[in-house]
Amino acid sequence: MKTRKFFLFIVLCFAIQLYPLSLSANERGDIVSGKNGMVVSVDKYASQIGIDILKKGGNAVDAAVAVGFALAVTYPSAGNIGGGGFMIIRFPDTKESVAIDFREKAPGKATPDMYLDENGKYVRKRSYYGHLAVGVPGTVKGFELAMKKYGKLSWKEVIEPAINLAENGFVLNKRMAKSFNSLKKRFKDYKEFLRIFSRPDGSDFKEGDIFVQKELAESLRLIANNGSDAFYKGKIADLIAKDMEKYGGLITKEDLEKYEAVIRKPVTGNYRGYKIISMPPPSSGGTILIEMLNILEGFELSKMERYAPETLHLISETMKFAYLDRAKYLGDSDFGKIPVDMLISKKYAESIRKRLNLVKAIPSAEIGKDILTIERANETTHYSVIDKDGIAVATTYTLNGGYGSGVVPEGTGFLLNNEMADFNMKPGYTDNKGLIGTKPNIIKPYKRMLSSMTPTIITKDGKTFMITGSPGGRTIINTVLNVIINVIDFKMNIQDAVDAPRMHHQWMPDILRIEKEGISDKVLDSLKNIGHKISTRWRQGDANSILIDPKTGIYYGAPDKRSGGTAAGY
Ligand code: GLY
Repeated sequence: MKTRKFFLFIVLCFAIQLYPLSLSANERGDIVSGKNGMVVSVDKYASQIGIDILKKGGNAVDAAVAVGFALAVTYPSAGNIGGGGFMIIRFPDTKESVAIDFREKAPGKATPDMYLDENGKYVRKRSYYGHLAVGVPGTVKGFELAMKKYGKLSWKEVIEPAINLAENGFVLNKRMAKSFNSLKKRFKDYKEFLRIFSRPDGSDFKEGDIFVQKELAESLRLIANNGSDAFYKGKIADLIAKDMEKYGGLITKEDLEKYEAVIRKPVTGNYRGYKIISMPPPSSGGTILIEMLNILEGFELSKMERYAPETLHLISETMKFAYLDRAKYLGDSDFGKIPVDMLISKKYAESIRKRLNLVKAIPSAEIGKDILTIERANETTHYSVIDKDGIAVATTYTLNGGYGSGVVPEGTGFLLNNEMADFNMKPGYTDNKGLIGTKPNIIKPYKRMLSSMTPTIITKDGKTFMITGSPGGRTIINTVLNVIINVIDFKMNIQDAVDAPRMHHQWMPDILRIEKEGISDKVLDSLKNIGHKISTRWRQGDANSILIDPKTGIYYGAPDKRSGGTAAGY
């Protein structure tokens, strides 16, 4: 009996010690732990490449760039060299952080009304598909800037794994095969796209097929050999410009040559003793995230039940007010003053708290009468990396819509973004269908379109505590908020925090969107009774995150089950 008790005691100790390592993959996703390095991305090849780079002696920046190039091959719906994004890097020795902005820019010939027809009506298709939808890509310049300033390995070393994957192919998983098969109709007018992403005989791709991309391999090889010049000045630039001319696009060689990625100062805030480091304009992400956290800081969330109607109501109202500010104030800070300091101040949060109604939903139209905004479907991807020295990298990059504009410039093998759709489409004009016309995000030549991408690093007592971010268009900021409060206020372990149901309110349309799984009809009814219009959805975001245990220093990688992400650690 004594032996049995002792055995149980040992098992218990072991279970407590290893939690959350002992979680079952089916129940909670594939959490992975490590002490020397961790990479969490949407794709197993990319995560493994990141770890291989770290094992080879590369730092987290080398790994992040290698993962970015790999995803351009294995996750072409969002991974890219023809799009743009943001990278937050934190260095543990200096405790400094930087934000690399490689967001796309409007072409030089872009005009505020380029998506309106002769009657002044917004033609949605023009901003979403085809050559006019494309912004000048930033990814290759951004990755090169990151490597030049902060990388340890050579440029070639971090691109080589992606070249191999494109040249020799990779095995399609079920999700990817299904995704490719679903595109034939959407991109039926794009012959280069169809040549690459459908089979010559029209049959479907199957799980287990090897997907080879020879032209993409060649483009990557050119970039590996000649740096970003290959893309912005050399052969690839020629191919892009030629394609644009042939099919009525605006991007010229001059636009490509002029493009520069920039290093910005991250936007920072404090939330219950944690430091939040995130993306400043041209993303709205960091600013609106910090505004929402500041508002919520005035409430004792930890004493509330996570999915009680009162809690969901409070968070939803907070989102509503913050997203109104997003629509009102945010845009490219290189083209006008954005009141970031005001929006992230504790004083401003206090003024918003005073306007909240804690027992009833305030109609969105009541708090901002003249600005409406549409929800847009977006396909983006986020990955988190940390190395043995604690250098942390949060990267979110995108083509905007899944597979971007559908344009593959002839001979290049890669997709171009449709990021122009992130601008406000009709200056000064708003309607009840959801067009928004506010000034800060109106199209101008060489301006960056407003983003919601929110790559975020959180520190506690000077040490990196969490790395997170997500895809999902405007839902991104709220997904990140959900994950952060789940950890800090509701004391979930990182995998539970990532897995837990998410919610989203973006002020307009006036709808509270909730991931249904795990939230009862009773709770939803209570919310409806206090004035919320509810819409349930099957998934929101893909927050591939890392948490560093402050006591042990162990890295926990939490992939998001929603897109079948993978954590790789050692
Ligand atoms: N295209 C999605 C975003 O930048 O927010």
